[in-house]
Amino acid sequence: MDMGLTGRRLLLVIGGGIAAYKTLELIRLLHRAGAETRVVLTEAGSRFVTPLSLAALTGHPPRTGLFQPDEETAMGHIELSRWADLVVVAPATAGLIAKAAQGLADDLASTTLIATDKRVLMAPAMNVRMWLHPAVQANVARLAAFPGPGVAFVGPDEGDMACGEFGPGRMVEPPAILAAIAAELAGPAARPLAGRRALVTAGPTFEPIDPVRGLTNRSSGKQGYAIAAALAARGAEVTLVSGPVALDAPPGVTRVWVETAREMQAACDAALPADLAVMTAAVADWRPDQVATGKIKKAPGGPPALALTENPDILAGLSAAGPRRPALVVGFAAETDDLIANARRKLSRKGCDWIVANDVSADVFGADGNAATLITGDGEESWPRQSKTALAAALADRIARHFTGTPA
Ligand code: CTP
Repeated sequence: MDMGLTGRRLLLVIGGGIAAYKTLELIRLLHRAGAETRVVLTEAGSRFVTPLSLAALTGHPPRTGLFQPDEETAMGHIELSRWADLVVVAPATAGLIAKAAQGLADDLASTTLIATDKRVLMAPAMNVRMWLHPAVQANVARLAAFPGPGVAFVGPDEGDMACGEFGPGRMVEPPAILAAIAAELAGPAARPLAGRRALVTAGPTFEPIDPVRGLTNRSSGKQGYAIAAALAARGAEVTLVSGPVALDAPPGVTRVWVETAREMQAACDAALPADLAVMTAAVADWRPDQVATGKIKKAPGGPPALALTENPDILAGLSAAGPRRPALVVGFAAETDDLIANARRKLSRKGCDWIVANDVSADVFGADGNAATLITGDGEESWPRQSKTALAAALADRIARHFTGTPA
């Protein structure tokens, strides 16, 4: 697949983190896509990957210091920082992020980051507590607010970490960094949602009955994940609040795992403020009134009666969130009968702006295809049966047009 990277020049700054080994794979992917790479390796980075591996992969010795006469005469560090079409920092450690945010130039990597006139893409990698530390978050916010060419971020991901902890902080996988590089190089027209924060819910919820059983539904999460990916590909900063599904998080998307409707509601609340929300999750309407602490046993009197209680309506709550309400709230209406009329009723009952009327009477749950009608304040737009990815692209384009004010 042509990613538009042929002949493009990438300067990779490799910081000192265990994720540095993944950057070797990124270099291979970049070369396969036709790009040219040069590397600046920090002192700490050289503890994780060797200059020899990098020289072998890129065809050029990596640059390691400010005061290396042979390196400087080959291409001065200022020239190097201008040579690139994009500067990629991977892994971006807390230290590198702090230096870049403060303009501290005390080694080649940090000097390059403020000498460059090009956009910088950072792929953070650090322990979860470090990533969540207010100092790091403040530095990230400061960098993200820099005027053009500016600094962009991809990730971090949530997951198991080399240090044995779990949470956000893991560097995103090389294919996701590659996709982010391609999107950056495609320019602003390809990122109409840059600077917008999006919240997407997806998948089913699971409402426990006892430690081994629960109430759930057949949502696969595929449509919601495709929408999160399509919004991220258009530049949005996406938080995907996901019930239990067997899907990988799309590149560049921050995924938050939840199980129950109430956890989903709390995670959505924590993801605010957001400019837009697309609620595709199949939230269980009810949950067992009581969750048994031990496994419920078969008893002579027959099966137990399950008393149910209503779950909060997350979409309706978000639509009525006052000043915290996203400017555009999109709901989904899963209907088997009287599709458009039922969806219109749902739109006004829930107080969202748009609703995607989704006919689930046929083969939709778990399938790769879907058909839908988008109902907005202005009218209706019908999307015939197509892949969930194509449908997601149609919706994301429609959302982008809404925010950029471009006519259809
Ligand atoms: N939704 C939600 N929280 C709920 C139920 C639904 O946020 N507790 C959202 C879904 O994510 C979707 C929309 O509301 O965007 C409609 O969901 P749907 O299941 O079609 O509707 P219900 O509210 O369950 O209504 P009904 O049972 O009458 O079809």
